[in-house]
Amino acid sequence: SKIWGRKKMQNQRVHVLVVTYPAQGHLNPLIQFAKRLASKKVKATVAATHYTINSIHPNSFAIEPISDGFDEGGFKQAPSVEAYLESFKTVGSRTLAELIVKFNNSGEPVSCVVYDSLLSWACDVAKEFGIHAAIMLTNSASVCSLYWQFNQGRLALPLDQETLAASVPGLPSLSFSDLPSFLAHPTSHSAYLALIMDKIRTLGKNDWVFCNSFEELESELVKALKELWPVITIGPLVPSFYLDHQIEGDTSYGASLWKQNNDQCLRWLDSKPLRSVVYVSFGSMASISTRQFEEIAWGLKASNMPFLWVTKEFEDKLLLESIDSIGERGLFVTWCNQLDVLAHQAVGCFVTHCGWNSTLEGLSLGVPMVCVPQWSDQPTNAKFVEDVWMVGVRAKKDEEGFVRREELGKCLREVMDGEKTREIKSSASKWREHAKTAVSVGGSSDRNIDEFIRKLLTGKE
Ligand code: UDX
Repeated sequence: SKIWGRKKMQNQRVHVLVVTYPAQGHLNPLIQFAKRLASKKVKATVAATHYTINSIHPNSFAIEPISDGFDEGGFKQAPSVEAYLESFKTVGSRTLAELIVKFNNSGEPVSCVVYDSLLSWACDVAKEFGIHAAIMLTNSASVCSLYWQFNQGRLALPLDQETLAASVPGLPSLSFSDLPSFLAHPTSHSAYLALIMDKIRTLGKNDWVFCNSFEELESELVKALKELWPVITIGPLVPSFYLDHQIEGDTSYGASLWKQNNDQCLRWLDSKPLRSVVYVSFGSMASISTRQFEEIAWGLKASNMPFLWVTKEFEDKLLLESIDSIGERGLFVTWCNQLDVLAHQAVGCFVTHCGWNSTLEGLSLGVPMVCVPQWSDQPTNAKFVEDVWMVGVRAKKDEEGFVRREELGKCLREVMDGEKTREIKSSASKWREHAKTAVSVGGSSDRNIDEFIRKLLTGKE
């Protein structure tokens, strides 16, 4: 009919440009969001640095280059974090503007720029063109609220427990070791903290603030953030496929920067009993020290549980060889498809650094966790895993800052076969169900995404 024809025309006019930051934990949620839009028949294009495009093998989504000024080697080519971020801002703003012009001239004008939370400058570019802008927060609502409190001077250092508890409504009582490391130790990562504070100050410029979380998971905090900014929850950004709900179109997850040893992992997992395997990964950025690596290795050995460990490019060959003597019980891989592993029935527990994606993935797939947080938002995520969602335990560090083998062993027993196991398993299944519901048709996150699309189609006031 005529009306249907018009609607289709309108639909084609909506074009969302998703601008990514080149780190695995940032690419996955942004690219997954682009895929979700595509599954809802919205045109979505991913913008990524040249280095990213050369590293991944996109075959299922549209991707276009922008430049961070380091096209050959990416981040590693930059002399410092500060220099990299500065260059990305200058060269990125210019090349993003050129890309928008290119689309505008080719009859596929961009209606909205959705950008990674580390790229606040992308909002200015969108506004120069008079188009909508939406920031994607890659941390939890809780962590975002802590950054905001800090920005408001309500978390002045040195922190004291009482002030903290009083100043952040909706948060559990937090101790110093639960804070994001950028707040606990503001001088050690000043470039990232400055970037985060800059983001917090400019959040109000956005038409939408997307949070990769779901209402049920952080309800009070999401409500509090909504009072400040146009926040909507759109997560967990994990393919519905893994949550047992088929969606139309692409079911692959994000985009991997490294080759995944998938067949090897799955074949090995297939040979293991139900819920017996400990899966160990510290994400893409945190590099753990040799000493910590060793403690974890011997803790795993003493546990007598089979384990699958993503070691990335860990270089202490001698140590790896000595650990290899563990033999059959352990499999070391440099990288895997984490969702495939977490979804496998042989996996009984996830030893994780609690990066926000890993935390959400473990929670969404109902896998109990042992938290070994390293830096950034990870300590706060670990606090929530243990005390709020009760889907795992957090390993305690000794006075030198290491999780000792005995402590890891204790945590593994607690999660796999201890007093708390039943409770943890039951919370894990509960959150798995909630996550599923949030992203399936009519769920809170799914409705939020539909509403976003509807507003783009009809023009937001
Ligand atoms: C970082 C921060 O730590 C995180 O807290 C922040 O919010 C985003 O950036 P990262 O340290 O890499 O990310 O951890 P995480 O957020 O867990 O992301 C890692 C991603 O890599 C996950 O999506 C995971 O599925 C994927 N992964 C991990 C693999 O695909 N294969 C692996 O072998 C291990």
